[in-house]
Amino acid sequence: MATPQSLRAAEVFGQAPATAAAPDGAPGTGSAASGSPAPAEPEQQAPQQLGPTGRPLRDIPEPPELDRHGPARVLAMCNQKGGVGKTTSTINLGASLAEYGRKVLLVDFDPQGALSVGLGVQPHELDQTVYNCIMESSVQVSDVLHKTSIDGVDLLPSNIDLSAAEVQLVAEVGREHSLMRVLRPLVSEYDFVLVDCQPSLGLLTVNALTAADGVIIPLECEFFSLRGVALLMDTIDKVRERLNPSLDIIGILATMFDPRTLHSKEVISRVVEAFGDTVFDTVINRTVRFPETTVAGEPITTWAPKSGGAKAYRQLAREVIRR
Ligand SMILES: Nc1ncnc2c1ncn2[C@@H]1O[C@H](COP(=O)(O)OP(=O)(O)OP(=O)(O)O)[C@@H](O)[C@H]1O
Ligand SMILES: [Mg+2]
Repeated sequence: MATPQSLRAAEVFGQAPATAAAPDGAPGTGSAASGSPAPAEPEQQAPQQLGPTGRPLRDIPEPPELDRHGPARVLAMCNQKGGVGKTTSTINLGASLAEYGRKVLLVDFDPQGALSVGLGVQPHELDQTVYNCIMESSVQVSDVLHKTSIDGVDLLPSNIDLSAAEVQLVAEVGREHSLMRVLRPLVSEYDFVLVDCQPSLGLLTVNALTAADGVIIPLECEFFSLRGVALLMDTIDKVRERLNPSLDIIGILATMFDPRTLHSKEVISRVVEAFGDTVFDTVINRTVRFPETTVAGEPITTWAPKSGGAKAYRQLAREVIRR
C-alpha cells in the first residue's frame, strides 16, 4: 500500500525521484581522465516552486486570440453550499475571459440576484428577467439581455420572481430543459456562457446542469465544505445519466484560501488527494477586496486590476480556456 500511495503522491505533488539519474551522455565530454565526479549540468534547474495545491506552479500561456465568436461553452458554477464564491467567481472569471477577447454571457440563475447586483444592476427594478424567458414563450431573450460596464460581457439578470419558477416548472413538460431552450439561440454569439447557480440542488440547478457542457465547483477552503461534495457529485452523475450525457466536470476551484493557516492547506491537500488534477492550479485567496467589489458593482479585474485576486482570476480564465 505504501508504494502506490507514494507513487501517487509523487505524481500529484510532482516530486522528483529520490535517486536522480546521473547526467549521462553529456555531449562533448570525452573520457573523464581524472576520474573526478562529473560537474553538475549547468542548465539543471532549481527545484520547481510548489503552488498552494502542492503541485509545481505551472505557467499557463496567454490564450490565442479568436478571429470569430461562438459556439459557446456553457459552464454552470455550482455548489449547493452557500457563500462559497460561486457568484464572485462567475463575475470575475467572466470579466477575465472577456479580457482575453472572449465574448461572455453571464446568467444569473439565483432568485437572490446577487450576480446582477455585483454587476451594478438592481434586480427589483427589472420588469423582465430570466424568469420571463423561461416561463413565457412570447418573451424574446434578446429583450431581457443587459449590456454590462465590462466590454464583451452581457448579463441575463434575475430577481426574486425566479423563485416561483422552481414550483411552476414542476408541472411543465420538459421542465429540466427550460434554461437550455432559453440559451439555445444565444450560444452561437458567445464564447462562454457562465450560469451562476443558487445554493441548492433543486430544479433550477438541475436546469443549469442540463444546459451546461461543464461544471465548475467553487469550494471554500474550510473543513465542512467537503461534506456536501459527494452529494453534488451524485447529482452531477444523475444529470449526466438521465439528461445530459456530455456533462463534464471542468474543475474544482478552491476559494477563500488563507495561506497563513494550516487548516486551509490541510483542506486543499485533502481535496487534491480526492480529486487530483480536477482541482484547478489556481487558488483564490481570502481577501476583503472581494466584498468591496460587490459594493462597487464591478469585477476585481477593473476595481483592483493589479491585485492578487485579479491576477488569480485571470490565471483561472487561462486554465478554463485550456481545459
Ligand atoms: N476570495 C474571497 N475572499 C473573501 N471574501 C470572498 C471571497 N470570495 C467571495 N467572498 C465574499 O463572500 C461572500 C459570498 O460570496 P459569493 O456570493 O460569491 O458566494 P456564493 O457561493 O455565490 O453564495 P450563495 O450561495 O449565497 O449564492 C460575499 O460577500 C463575497 O464578497
Ligand atoms: Mg451566489
